[in-house]
Amino acid sequence: MKRILITRRLLKSCEEKASKIFEANFNDNDELYSQSKVIEMSQGCDGILTSLTDKMDAETINKLPDSVKILSNFAVGFGNIDLEAAKKRGIIVTNTPDVLTDATAEIGILLILGACRRASEGIESARESNWKWSADYLIGKQLTGTRLGILGMGRIGQRIAKIAKSLGMIIHYHNRSKLSDEKEQGATYHDNLKDLLSVSDVLSICCPASKETVDMINKETIEYLPKGAVVTNVARGDIVEDEALIDALNRRKVYAVGLDVYKNEPNLNSGYLKHKSAFILPHLGSATKETRTAMANLAIDNIDEFFKTGSCKNKVN
Ligand code: GLV
Repeated sequence: MKRILITRRLLKSCEEKASKIFEANFNDNDELYSQSKVIEMSQGCDGILTSLTDKMDAETINKLPDSVKILSNFAVGFGNIDLEAAKKRGIIVTNTPDVLTDATAEIGILLILGACRRASEGIESARESNWKWSADYLIGKQLTGTRLGILGMGRIGQRIAKIAKSLGMIIHYHNRSKLSDEKEQGATYHDNLKDLLSVSDVLSICCPASKETVDMINKETIEYLPKGAVVTNVARGDIVEDEALIDALNRRKVYAVGLDVYKNEPNLNSGYLKHKSAFILPHLGSATKETRTAMANLAIDNIDEFFKTGSCKNKVN
């Protein structure tokens, strides 16, 4: 039996599945392992089931024991892993696409609704019972008829587009390439970021974090948005320059933000906390029982497939 390290707790049924297939080292207290602890805990292991909280940079990867041949990331995103460093050491990296598309798109829509309809302020007032209904109380932005710009029209972006369209939003998107008519579903393609932002009354960031997308939403690009735009991010915090977005909120260039992901999670920039118009969630994108189960099972299956066949369909490096 192959031995694997599972760096974070999984749902019980998934840990049971893992222990039927592998000799598995579990993290019973769900401790957040440091990089040196991951290296220490992986001694004698053939693979590691990592989570997005594990920073697998080149230095860490280079110190892993030679026996480690696969890093199976329990996430669709893999910005936490240096793919090149892994490749150089002959370690394959896999992810868990598809199974979290619906759950993450649901949170993407929640961010849009929460930011546009002033849910943070509403929740606070309702809890404190200090509100009085009036014709102009907590007036927000209506989604129907509003333009939604999707940055990154992959699986999650397409799903958000489909739901948003059913809510009456008009969909625009920017991607590296134009999608087929079937995938586009009537959305308007923009071949550059500036053009997309200039028509985005609401922006939904759905692209992966990569060298090309880090800080893509910054001081300069925020200015392309219409005044009073809403910015939402269901992808990765690294794509947004926080200071620039907070400054845009302060100046009312940006009306509201809806965020599920942050740079340096869980320590989000405190500037967001001061804003009533910031609808913020603690990285809940894939957090449903069905989805977390499917993701963990897929991360386990990816390792199994790799050891049985020498490759894996969800290999990303
Ligand atoms: C969640 O954020 C993921 O990348 O799976």
